[in-house]
This record gives sequence, structure tokens and C-alpha cells, in this order.
Amino acid sequence: MIGSGGREHALVWKLAQSPLVKKIFVAPGNAGIDEIAENLPLAADKPVELADFAQSSRIDLTIVGPESPLVFGIVDYFQSRGLKIFGPTKAAARLEGSKAFAKTIMERTGVPTARFQVFRDLKEAVATIEKAPVPIVVKADGLAAGKGVIVAKDREEAVKAVTGILADRVFGEAGGQVVIEECLSGEEVSILAIADGAHCILLESSQDHKRAFDGDQGPNTGGMGAYSPVPMLNGSGIEQVRKKIFEPVLKGMAKEGAPFTGVLYAGLMLTSDGPKVLEFNVRFGDPEAQAVLPRLKSDLMELILAAMKGEIHKVPVAWDSKASACVVLASAGYPGKYDVGRVITGLAQLKDLPDTLVFHAGTRRQGDRLTTSGGRILNVVGLGNNLEKALEKAYQAADQIQFEGKQCRRDIGAHALNFTRQGRNREIAKR
Ligand code: AMP
Ligand code: GLY
Repeated sequence: MIGSGGREHALVWKLAQSPLVKKIFVAPGNAGIDEIAENLPLAADKPVELADFAQSSRIDLTIVGPESPLVFGIVDYFQSRGLKIFGPTKAAARLEGSKAFAKTIMERTGVPTARFQVFRDLKEAVATIEKAPVPIVVKADGLAAGKGVIVAKDREEAVKAVTGILADRVFGEAGGQVVIEECLSGEEVSILAIADGAHCILLESSQDHKRAFDGDQGPNTGGMGAYSPVPMLNGSGIEQVRKKIFEPVLKGMAKEGAPFTGVLYAGLMLTSDGPKVLEFNVRFGDPEAQAVLPRLKSDLMELILAAMKGEIHKVPVAWDSKASACVVLASAGYPGKYDVGRVITGLAQLKDLPDTLVFHAGTRRQGDRLTTSGGRILNVVGLGNNLEKALEKAYQAADQIQFEGKQCRRDIGAHALNFTRQGRNREIAKR
């Protein structure tokens, strides 16, 4: 496993339960992963060293957690050395690596998404903004660690954003092109699929909480929590997502000569015109994986191996009917500047609690102490017969964990709870 976050801990936790898995090495891992697998002092962005290790240790299969090695072509490189690896090739990873490419594929295959235009030239971009309705969305083309999207409330902010991207290159290479698109509104939902190049299976829905503070206020983060399933998208909505989004995109990528094998993540907006794609990612979501994987009853290793054989549609997938909720504990200051090295306490008593899981992200072992080593520190997951119960479990456990500067959102799942409450009120009003 390549990576070191909460997503990778959840993946390793799940894979370790498979009878098909004998031993897992993680490069570079974290303090939580170290308890169930073997961490390696190898960085995720060093393909040659990683392949050398895989070869000399006769690793049967490598799985990639984060996007950046995929976009830079680690899968092609491993394959060129005869090493088995699960994830999209460099050409297929362009669905996340280039927003302009993703939009073009969507346009070509008729996938519902915001109307858009792509620009390299600043003057042309500015001229378009001057005539466009606001709010309007400006996106740097390439990878920008989640910071490359600006939802501009007026033209001035939009012009500032395109100038920053195209002229000042605030996102470096990622800013060679800019996508300007229509602003959509609605609930956001993440749907992840495991794809085998031609077919896919959809995993259960989840919702991320991107803003730092309660009530969706404050700056965007990597994600402050998630829950699964999302009641705002029902069974027929999910079928629509499969037929109108995943199937055409997979077909389009195959036609393009870049069939997609790996995890394809669609970030959707549930608009009044139905679900539309905001973006594609080419890997598991973080923290979505921490909320979704504990509900997966099937053997994840079996699913991955089936995908690699082009047989994903032949494997039945089973889910726990329980709901899950994941609360992220972060360092004070995150997503801006934060301190590291704070001692973490309170984890030991949570170990064997039922329906409670803790996945590590930015943690380190220093002697016999556990300390913080990043922005997002821990992911506390609760499971329950409904979302309220899952949240109760998650927050009970989250409140027992202490470190200086600990911050978390107290309103994970609020959109879903409101939606369910409103539905109940409508039912009562009808009677
Ligand atoms: P991304 O990094 O592409 O996931 O975008 C970050 C966030 O920007 C999304 O989660 C949405 O909240 C928002 N966003 C992206 N595209 C649009 C759009 N066309 N309309 C409204 N909001 C958007
Ligand atoms: N949670 C958002 C992402 O993984 O990109």
C-alpha cells in the first residue's frame, strides 16, 4: 500500500481481514497502520525505490492510495517492470490530473456536468467572465491539493482567480489552463466505483464535509468528516448515476485508448435537473473511504483482484445495513499553519469498543508516546442502526481523545439529519 493517511489506514484495516492477504507493507504509513502492517521508510512519490522494494521483496500486488503517484504514472512504471499494481494508468488518471480533459470526456460522452469553457489565454478568460452570470466557478486544470477551485461570488473575484492561475501561476504547472464553469447548487454526494476497464460496481454513497468549521463555514480542507449512506440519493438516483455517468465515462475512456481500471470517484451535485458531476478523482476519497469501507461486508481484496481480471461485474457485493459516521480530529490552525509533536491520549480505552473504529492520519510514535505529525490527525468512526446512533458513537469516542489544539466539526451528518427530519414532517403534514 502506498500512502500514509486515514484512507490508507482504513484500506489496510479492511484488506488485513481478507484470507487472501498474508502480509501488508505500507510506504510510508503512520503510527496506526504500524499496529496492523509493516511501515516502510519509503515516500509515496519515489516510484523507482518503491518498485525496487516490490521487486526485491516479491510483493504480489501494490495498491496506490493518493492521486499524485497515479497522475505521474506509477502504474505504467510498475507495469513496465512486470510488477502488479492496482490503479489507473497515467492516461486514465487524467480524469483527475486534468480538469479540462475530464470536462472534454464528459462533453463527448454526454455526462451531465456544469457548462464550461477552457482557456489558456488570460485576456480571453477575462472577456468571458465579463459577460458571464455570477457566481461563477474558476478551476486550475491540474492537481492543486484541493485548493485549485474558486467559487467566485462576483466578477472581480473571478478575474482575480484566473489572473492568479494563468499569469501568476499560483498553482505552478497546474495552471497552464483554466476551466471556467457554471455554478451549480444542491447537495454534494460522493459515489465511488471499482472499475475493471469496461465495467464497474458502485460503492455505497457518502458525503464529505469540506469546510473547516460548523455550518460549512471557513476555508476548504481535505475533508473534516463523512457519513454513509446519503439519504438524499435514493436507489433510482443511484441507478441514474450508474447509467448516465459511470457507464458512459468508462466507455468513453476505453474508446479513447485509456481504459480505466481502479477506483473512480465521482463528486456529484444533486441539482434540480438531477445529479451532475463536479469532478472525478481516480482513487478512494479521504475521509469517504473511512466511512464507506467499515460498511462493506465483501472481501475488498477479492473485488480488487476481480477488477484486475476484467471481471468486477461477476462478484456480488454485500453491505452492512448500519449507517456510519466519521469525525476528523485536526490540529488547531489546519488547513493553515499548525504545530506538530503534540501528545495524543485517550486512544487505549477505545480499542475494543463495539461499533467504534479509529483510523490514524497524521500520527507518529515517539518512544512510547503517540504524537501529532500533520493537519488531520485521527478519524473516529461510529456505526449504528441509523445515522443518529452512528454519530453518537463517533462523538462519544472523539470526546475521549485529547491533544492540545484538537479541533473537529460538531455537525457531521447535519444535512442528512435535516433531510430525514423534513421528510418525516412532510409525511405528518400529509396525514
Ligand atoms: P473539487 O476540488 O473539484 O472537488 O471542488 C471543490 C469544491 O468546489 C466542490 O466540492 C464544490 O463544493 C465546489 N464546486 C466545484 N465545482 C462547482 C460548480 N460547478 N458549482 C458549484 N460548486 C462547485
Ligand atoms: N474527500 C475529498 C477527496 O478525497 O478528494
